[in-house]
Amino acid sequence: MTEHEIKINFKEYASLEELEQADQQLCKEAVKALKTSHSPYSKFRVGVAMQLKSGKILHASNQENAAYPSGLCAERVALFHWGANYSDDPIETMAITAYTDEFQLTRPVTSCGACLQVLAEYEKKQNSAIKMLLYCQQGPIWVATGVESFLPFLFFEDRLTNKAL
Ligand code: THU
Repeated sequence: MTEHEIKINFKEYASLEELEQADQQLCKEAVKALKTSHSPYSKFRVGVAMQLKSGKILHASNQENAAYPSGLCAERVALFHWGANYSDDPIETMAITAYTDEFQLTRPVTSCGACLQVLAEYEKKQNSAIKMLLYCQQGPIWVATGVESFLPFLFFEDRLTNKAL
């Protein structure tokens, strides 16, 4: 038996002012995106802003549905919108924030596995890692680059062939 250990690395910032200007602005754009959240069932709003290489910023939010599984997380709404319309303009940074009237969020929202898997697909497609800003308005900001920081055991396309290790 061999035991393995995987370490992940992320930075924690106590306040927005500690981030570089462009990242501060992107977190504020993610807050703006909260307004468009359609979340009557969970009452949990998630907002995303993505900064593309050209400077363009895309906004997205979670979209729920009365048939619950038909809804989609904000991250995948953002990523699929990018994939369908802007995939020749690489994503450099993605800011994610959340808000609910029900209680005060005191730590950042970390994306679900399905969103991380989609993120991995597009990091591979654009051949560069994405900087993730997980912004909590009443708490810290967590920053890491590359989806493998959050999901080290991704499913990669090479597993679909016999080329896998
Ligand atoms: N949600 C997101 O949009 N992103 C996440 O990272 C986690 C969860 C949404 C899905 C659903 O609309 C609501 O938050 C509650 O799960």
